[in-house]
Amino acid sequence: MGDRIFNFSAGPACLPESVLKQAQKDIWDIAGSGIGILEHSHRGKVFDKVTHETEALCRKIAGIPDEYAVFWMQGGATSQCYFVPANFLPAGRTADYFETGKWAQDSIKEAPLYGSSHVCGSSKDANFSYIPMGESVSYSDNPVYVHMTSNNTIMGTQFHAEPTPPKDAFLVCDASSDIFSRPIDVNKYGLIYAGAQKNLGPSGITLLIARKDLIAEPVRELPTMMQFTKHADAEGRYNTPNTFGVYLMGQVFEWIIAEGGLNAMREMNEQKADLVYGFLDSQDFYTPHARPDSRSNMNYTFKCPTPELDKLFLTESEKRGLDGMKGHRSVGGMRASMYNAFPMAGVKALVEFMKSFAHEHAAGAKA
Ligand SMILES: Cc1ncc(COP(=O)(O)O)c(C=O)c1O
Repeated sequence: MGDRIFNFSAGPACLPESVLKQAQKDIWDIAGSGIGILEHSHRGKVFDKVTHETEALCRKIAGIPDEYAVFWMQGGATSQCYFVPANFLPAGRTADYFETGKWAQDSIKEAPLYGSSHVCGSSKDANFSYIPMGESVSYSDNPVYVHMTSNNTIMGTQFHAEPTPPKDAFLVCDASSDIFSRPIDVNKYGLIYAGAQKNLGPSGITLLIARKDLIAEPVRELPTMMQFTKHADAEGRYNTPNTFGVYLMGQVFEWIIAEGGLNAMREMNEQKADLVYGFLDSQDFYTPHARPDSRSNMNYTFKCPTPELDKLFLTESEKRGLDGMKGHRSVGGMRASMYNAFPMAGVKALVEFMKSFAHEHAAGAKA
């Protein structure tokens, strides 16, 4: 670990150590070209190779069929809140949305700029502590698509299975905070998008995996930069892309493959979850935010018995090199984010700290 500490940030987040070390070298000189990755033209031979390798590795990791385009855009996952309805939702038609937290709400807000939106399932009644499922889900008559946020970064909840959209509707998924944390059946989706800054690389680049037939023609006239098809046809370089982001994503994909692929990612994330949730379920000092059937293997949200103890938890944990656990203001308490690259040693250190903090303060909290 050396001079680095455990980084529980929700994003930008912890990256694999081997990737960072390789990037240090490639920033100076990539592939013996005498030029660093940050300085290469996005139209040159070196970057051609980088971009093609990144796409190929992405396809390999997730078994992405040829009927899907793989490309990247700028503007963060937030821009997809309006790119999606702009490209897919004709005026007078409806799109269905799962309202599972702030990021889902941001998407719901933008859809009416283009068509109608219908909330097909919501957990707003319980501050988004669960994923709506079963009979509580009610689709509109003939939606164009159903939008879900597979992992709710702020709340610490996660879909554990894909919802089944009504016939003729396709699934759109904001997978920003759990992409490639487990195997994924791409065939179930019309579009998957993910801001890179949690499981894939740096901020400022969004990965898109889109069914080619759906993006072939936007449903309305749009500025060029808003058209999915233009970015897909240009291999994500219609204009100058975040070249470093494309490079780093490729490095992370290589790391995922070397670690054993998505099955290995799932196994490792389940081991981390067993440690943290196993501990949380065994005690009554901390209160978890997420309902057990909906909890996330990426973001762990919990509170101490009082806001004062939450504050103390944060200052004491930082002193021990456990950084970035302040919860989002809408939930409070703590959020420990542990994406694919977060080391098991950090998970163990957190659980040990949680135990000792609870032991030290339990009597005071009850008094
Ligand atoms: C699930 C989810 N969607 C969207 C976003 C927004 O991403 P960006 O800041 O890249 O626009 C985030 C950011 O944390 C997120 O967690």
